[in-house]
Amino acid sequence: MPLASNSSAQPAPGAAEIAALVEPTRVHRRAYTDRAIFDLEMERIFGRAWIFVAHASQIPQPNDLVRTRLGLHDVLATRDPEGLVHVVLNRCTHRGTTLCSVERANAASLVCPYHAWTFGLDGTLRSVPHRKSMPASFDMADPRLSLFRAPRVADYRGFIFASLAGDGPALEDFLGDMTDVLDNFIDRAPNGEVTQEGGAFRLEYRGNWKLHHENANDTMHPGFVHESSVNAAREDGRDYAEPVYDEHQAHVQMLSNGFSVREWQSLGLQGLANGHSYMDGFYTKGILSPDRDDPISRGYRDALEAARGREAAAGILAMDRFNNLVWPNLNINAQYQQIRVVQPVAPDRTIVRAMCFRLGGAPEGMFHRAVRFLTNLSSPASMIFADDAEIFEKVQAGLSDGRREWLDQSRGIDEAVGNGRIASAGTSELPIRGQYRAWLDHMTAAP
Ligand code: FES
Ligand SMILES: [Fe+2]
Repeated sequence: MPLASNSSAQPAPGAAEIAALVEPTRVHRRAYTDRAIFDLEMERIFGRAWIFVAHASQIPQPNDLVRTRLGLHDVLATRDPEGLVHVVLNRCTHRGTTLCSVERANAASLVCPYHAWTFGLDGTLRSVPHRKSMPASFDMADPRLSLFRAPRVADYRGFIFASLAGDGPALEDFLGDMTDVLDNFIDRAPNGEVTQEGGAFRLEYRGNWKLHHENANDTMHPGFVHESSVNAAREDGRDYAEPVYDEHQAHVQMLSNGFSVREWQSLGLQGLANGHSYMDGFYTKGILSPDRDDPISRGYRDALEAARGREAAAGILAMDRFNNLVWPNLNINAQYQQIRVVQPVAPDRTIVRAMCFRLGGAPEGMFHRAVRFLTNLSSPASMIFADDAEIFEKVQAGLSDGRREWLDQSRGIDEAVGNGRIASAGTSELPIRGQYRAWLDHMTAAP
């Protein structure tokens, strides 16, 4: 069930009209403000592409379910008694009532709170109270009485994606080389298992969903947007030589936004097919290193080396990629076991759900660090995300004025293209341009 109306009074824009909104170095403000464009994004991007919906560890047992979103749809990711995963619409087929109001549950069936129609976890209608009062034509097996089910559901090593399109590229083809970071996310667990724990932060901002992705690999903004927390950390004269996991980590996280432009420029940006991108060299360049020499890190390295051998463990820990965007809705930071899931609500409204994972077989302190990192970066009280969200809202407010129609995205246009990738120096806006290439592909494709 859509959380926001997706009806538009305006006719859907045609392919030529959409194509005219994106030029190599600029984009038209309508891409952020226009209701008809947003509706088309929900249909052609969030209604067709592979969308991350849940992690397998959120539904480990038969009859587990987790409430999530697929585009504007309120859906349940379920594991049926045979262990198969389904993504079903959280909406009764009788009178439309929302079936499940909790975030997670274990239930043998889904019982509607209104008249108790009962569905299996695969969405099929199982029983209707006072069945004999229904007409003879009422056929329980009629698929139209079952819950709507996403036609394609697939997972990559536990990361579950769904697509509302009956056909299209396989999940692994869609992910391309982004499978590397998902592999690394899991390989960092000494026992090879990661579990999502501790719930999720829910953040909402009054701005377009694309603003979040454009910001994630934007290295020109931290020195300005995050100046206050950088300065607070610089002025903090306390000695964190004994790096306990909490205060020390908060301190270095704030400081890391204080790179000079030259330092940001020395990082690499990588743009991949389908709008995916990431920033590399972020950890090895500076102070935000997860591979510190302290008792927790040493205990973790020892556990990983014991499980994988010294060389393999070193290779796993050496992967240095920050803010990996699996366009259009997943952001991954493997070093601190973090993900963000971006959920559009309206042209000017977006929800971000941020969560972290436990590395199986790692010292408890590693999970505490993940929670701490999440809290510092992505909680409603974060000194970092709050600044970004304020900027997104200022952008959205500014775009409501149409006197200047175009937004510039030309920084670092001298990109090196090769091997299916686009590479550029750290201050480039190549991730934004790559996202718009994918956006155009989807938005101008024949319905
Ligand atoms: S609305 Fe669900 S049983 Fe009536
Ligand atoms: Fe930021």
